[in-house]
Amino acid sequence: MRNFTETTLTDAVLAKLDSAPSPRFRHVMSSVIRHLHACIREVELTEAEWFAAIQFLTAVGKKCDDKRQEFILLSDTLGVSMLVDTINHHTPTGATESTVLGPFHVPGASEIANGANVAAGFPGEPTLFSGRVVTMAGKPIAGAQLDVWQADAEGLYDVQRANLNGKQLRGIVRTNEQGKFWFWTVRPTAYPVPTDGPVGQMLLNMGRHPYRPAHIHALVTAPGYESLTTHVFAEGDQYLDSDAVFGVKDSLVVKFTRHEPGTAPDGTVMKQPYFTVSYDFGLSVVGR
Ligand code: BEZ
Ligand code: FE
Repeated sequence: MRNFTETTLTDAVLAKLDSAPSPRFRHVMSSVIRHLHACIREVELTEAEWFAAIQFLTAVGKKCDDKRQEFILLSDTLGVSMLVDTINHHTPTGATESTVLGPFHVPGASEIANGANVAAGFPGEPTLFSGRVVTMAGKPIAGAQLDVWQADAEGLYDVQRANLNGKQLRGIVRTNEQGKFWFWTVRPTAYPVPTDGPVGQMLLNMGRHPYRPAHIHALVTAPGYESLTTHVFAEGDQYLDSDAVFGVKDSLVVKFTRHEPGTAPDGTVMKQPYFTVSYDFGLSVVGR
């Protein structure tokens, strides 16, 4: 075939998919091609704009390494990650809602005992995070694993600090026989997503701020239950309604309560003011 026109080209490209062996691949790619062509026709993309898009995607790729995933950041800031999340997780009653994983999860964090401090030596106000992992009916799940990670009071994850090994401000804690977990950390603050790359420039061009409201990440797993990727967000944060990655859900917003020096609920004697935050994570059974 030759002599394609603005109107015949799309069908010609789609026809090339006819011999793709996977039906799912054919389905997804045909949608990608149709929407991409429709977008280019709609905006009547100029050649300069086409080249700027190529340069942008090249820069996104070049910014990626084993510690930085600019493509995930692009997906997050365009709302694609949350769209995939909402399509794939229709949370049943009693189960905790999910939200984005984000780029700062490090597989293989250290196992910590209940009551341990994941933020020793990091800037921030001491905070006792406690709660339970429960079934949709509210029954405790013993031996559930919570992989938690967060930024410090300066808004940085360990992997963003050059001299750290990706083992701090994070840990894996297990629930006890009553389904309870507790650990010490620092109160998280709002922080900007990384803006020193092409996605930061894109946010600037869009007139958007890069901030995420203060949160603690949790990846909760237990045998026989669907794994849960979520956050708890700090009530009152100024960015709850304008999260740069569209991840906030009301059910995940919790109060961080301030206490004067004294004995904390886990028996730790605190010589300085501290915060407590409590959250029960509900898991749904596999294949429900
Ligand atoms: C995060 O919360 O760690 C995060 C999520 C999406 C983009 C950047 C950071
Ligand atoms: Fe985060």
